[in-house]
Amino acid sequence: MSEGGGGAPQFWRAPALRALLHQGLALSPAFCILVVLQAWGMPAPHPLVAALLQGGIAASLSAWRRLAIWWLPIQLLFPSALVVALDLRLPPSLFLGLFLFFLLLYWSSFRTQVPYYPSTRPVWRAVVGLLPARPLRCIDIGSGFGGLVLELAALRPDSRVEGIELAPLPWLASSVRARCTRSRARFRRGDYLDLDFAGYDVVFAYLSPAAMPVLWEKAHSEMRPGALLLSYEFLMSGRAPDIALQPRHGGAVLYGWRM
Ligand SMILES: C[S@@+](CC[C@H](N)C(=O)[O-])C[C@H]1O[C@@H](n2cnc3c(N)ncnc32)[C@H](O)[C@@H]1O
Repeated sequence: MSEGGGGAPQFWRAPALRALLHQGLALSPAFCILVVLQAWGMPAPHPLVAALLQGGIAASLSAWRRLAIWWLPIQLLFPSALVVALDLRLPPSLFLGLFLFFLLLYWSSFRTQVPYYPSTRPVWRAVVGLLPARPLRCIDIGSGFGGLVLELAALRPDSRVEGIELAPLPWLASSVRARCTRSRARFRRGDYLDLDFAGYDVVFAYLSPAAMPVLWEKAHSEMRPGALLLSYEFLMSGRAPDIALQPRHGGAVLYGWRM
C-alpha cells in the first residue's frame, strides 16, 4: 500500500522538513554575527549562547514562514538541546535506539501531521453507545495500539471490527494484543487513504485538524447513505455534526456525521 496521497510536493511541504530547512538557513547568519562580534573584540561565546542565537534565527524564520506556533519554542531550543546532549557524552547507541523507537512509533507523522496519542475508555464506551443494534462493519482509521478496536470487538461480537495503522510499532503491538487475547479484532498495516470506505457502516477517526479536510472529502464521496463517520476531538470545518457528546466531563467532544 502507498502511504498517502499528494506525492513529492506534499512531502517537501511537511512542517518538520521546513523546520529543518529553517535551522539550516539560520546557520550562516548566526555564524556571521558571531564572527563580526569577535572582530569587534568580544570574547568567543559559550556554545550554548551560539546555539540560542542559531535557534532564535531559525524560530524567527519559522514565524515568518507561518509554521504552527508550537514549532517556535522547538526551533529556539533545538540547537541548545543538541549542545547539552553532546556535552553529556551519552553513548551513540542510545541515540540510535531512541531514533529507531521513535521512527517505528511515529513513522510518517511528519508528513501526515497525525502523531500517536491514544483515546481513552470513556471515548470507546461512548462510541459503543452510538452503534446501531445490528451487525456492523466498523473501522478505526489510525488504530494506534488498538484499544478502541479491541474494546468494540469484545462488546459487539455480532459485528466485524477492524483497525488500520500506518506506523509499524503500534500496528505490531495491536496485532499481538489481538492474538494474545483471542480477540476477533483485525488489524492491518497501511494507509486509510487507500481504503474504500464504502464497505463500512461506521468509520472512527482520532486524527488531527490537518487530516480533516481530506477525510471529509473521502468519507462524503465513498460512505454509503446511513453510514456513520465519527471523529473524536476534531471537527470538519463548515460541516455541522449530527452528533456531539462529551465522553468525559470537561474532556474533548466526540462528533458524528450521518451520511
Ligand atoms: C491520535 S492516534 C489515535 C489512535 C487510536 N485511534 C486511538 O483512538 O487511541 C492517530 C493514529 O493514526 C495513525 N495514522 C495517521 N495517519 C494515518 C494514515 N494515513 N493511515 C493509517 N494510520 C494513520 C498514526 O500513526 C496514529 O497512530
